[in-house]
Amino acid sequence: MHPNAIRHSAGYVEGIPRLGIPEQFQTDAGLGVAVQQSGAAERVREGTSLPSGIATASTWNVDLARSGGAMIGSEARARGFNVMLAGGVNLMREPRNGRNFEYAGEDPLLAGKIVGAQIGGIQSNHIISTIKHFAINNQEFGRLVANARMDDTTARTSDLLAFQIAIEDARPGAVMCAYNKVNAVYSCENDYLLNQVLKKDWNYPGYVMSDWGGVHSTAAAINNGLDQESGWEFDSEKYLSADNLKKAIAKKEVAPERLDDMRLRILTSMFENGLFDHPLKPQVNTDFHANGLISQASAEEGMVLLKNNHDLLPINASVKRIAVIGGHADVGVLSGGGSSQVYSVGGNPVPDPSNRIWPATVFHASSPLKAIQKYAPHAQVSYASGKDVNEAALLAAQSDVAVVFATQWTGETEDALDLGLPEGQDALIEAVSASNRSTIVVLETGGPVTMPWHEKVSSILEAWYPGSNGGEAIARVLFGLVNPSGRLPATFPMSERQLPRPQMDGTALLKKHNLIGFDIDYDIEGAAVGYKWFDLKGHTPLYHFGHGLSYTQFAHSNLSGLIEQGDVKIRFTVANTGQRQGKNVSQVYLSPREKTWEAPKRLGGFKKVDLAAGETKEVSLAIDPRLFATYSSVDKTWRIKAGTYRVTIADHAGHDSSVFIELALPARKLNLQGKPIQ
Ligand code: BGC
Repeated sequence: MHPNAIRHSAGYVEGIPRLGIPEQFQTDAGLGVAVQQSGAAERVREGTSLPSGIATASTWNVDLARSGGAMIGSEARARGFNVMLAGGVNLMREPRNGRNFEYAGEDPLLAGKIVGAQIGGIQSNHIISTIKHFAINNQEFGRLVANARMDDTTARTSDLLAFQIAIEDARPGAVMCAYNKVNAVYSCENDYLLNQVLKKDWNYPGYVMSDWGGVHSTAAAINNGLDQESGWEFDSEKYLSADNLKKAIAKKEVAPERLDDMRLRILTSMFENGLFDHPLKPQVNTDFHANGLISQASAEEGMVLLKNNHDLLPINASVKRIAVIGGHADVGVLSGGGSSQVYSVGGNPVPDPSNRIWPATVFHASSPLKAIQKYAPHAQVSYASGKDVNEAALLAAQSDVAVVFATQWTGETEDALDLGLPEGQDALIEAVSASNRSTIVVLETGGPVTMPWHEKVSSILEAWYPGSNGGEAIARVLFGLVNPSGRLPATFPMSERQLPRPQMDGTALLKKHNLIGFDIDYDIEGAAVGYKWFDLKGHTPLYHFGHGLSYTQFAHSNLSGLIEQGDVKIRFTVANTGQRQGKNVSQVYLSPREKTWEAPKRLGGFKKVDLAAGETKEVSLAIDPRLFATYSSVDKTWRIKAGTYRVTIADHAGHDSSVFIELALPARKLNLQGKPIQ
């Protein structure tokens, strides 16, 4: 790494002092300012970690996503970074993907809106954020060699749509191309992705930077749209070095105008995002307390109450004995591993059992146990590590309530081989629930997991990787200081058998340690990703996309629709019919009467609404017309077919809601951006 680079950071690009062009100091990633090495390096740059990206997506709250982005962007700037490698928006097609925790779930609208808001927040600090990994980088296994196969219409209706929405909303300064191939061509030299879709069709003015080790050529990369080689130490040579550029131009493999274009794109982004006008002034002092509270707000709102029999939660303040079991809940909360790893204030309280230098297994020092003790000052709160199942079951039997913390570590380069909780935790939960019916399971997972014990426990709270203040956030939800309002941004399957790929592509090769290329056939599900696939196949999942309970109840009414110059606007009333304040996510699903889409329904809009007990609010929403349309590759238009469309407000994707209207839409042709074509 260059001597001017910041220690244990992701990357560095030299400036040109003679021309006043600043250096690019690059840091990962979407959860905070990361450190690229574990061990002794950990404490070089403590930072605040947001909850995982999937947790932020679970908030369905774009304002929170923006404020979280603004906070981590401010820490990046304070640490001397002006490029943040954030904005992970790869769609969850594969629940076992080790990086799902960095992304925003399975729906292009939700993911695009949440990640767009976060990028906007980051860039409000006069720094650049990337959006990544462009594109179809949906599993880690074989990421350097795998070939994602997907046709254009499918891609534009699913994976690329998520990118398009986020780019339209936030104008990220840079796009990071992915490692994998798409339709047989590496993403970082892929004319279709970079030149056609991104730069031509979407008019993207910024620059494309490579993922670290994602470049394989000089002329092909440049001609097909790559503007900046990043982390070239990971490439087999410095393909975009001055020498290689000169040679390529001399041999007429690359036109000199293309170099001007690359330069223009990089400098435009740097100017537009304030890198010239707002030079970096690294600060030593960061208000970690205030930043921790911002992270906590997202963690609290992102937790999803999956199940709550007999209203066991919130835990009654009068309980006398609480058993806290497993998950290292005595000292901290889990985080996801890899380049996005933030080392938070207080250090890693759990020595890494993995013996891996990278990606490491890291906990944030925010103890759920201590927070539970704080909110139950009169109860006897006891802890069992869960290693000894009998001891844990005995403790549960002697307690009024048992709270089991179950963890699933996931990380970059490491997909989960299956969706089961590792290390015998299913058996631990079975044993605890057998000795105490009032068992609450708190999950700290990277994404969906299977739950064979699900009928046997009273309550389940999906806390994801809850970030720097995770222990506090969990306890506040458990005791009702916060009313849970997270909703799943991804379907939880009953079992892997329900997935488009019951076994991940390439895993047979993994066993042979043979990293030769292989195809991932996304044609199987096409654009019917996640809940759309479940709908299409008639599979009942364990938990539906959009599912999440509250300590209060909500009701929708008065739904009406208006077609204004062809665009659909809806209005409805949402009421809190219960006894306590709470936030609801009004979810709008669209379905055509004539089955012309990839699946029966699509998410068409959403709104998070905060309501006091008994309060009622009017909500209006405009629906992106592309969500009523199908994409035509032939003339690059979106087309709405004349016909009847149902607009439903539902609690989740599987909810057969009675709050719907039917609208007769005329035929319409829209351009790539969804604007009408006469
Ligand atoms: C990851 C990127 C990351 C980069 C720099 C790569 O391995 O895929 O997401 O930004 O490293 O650390």
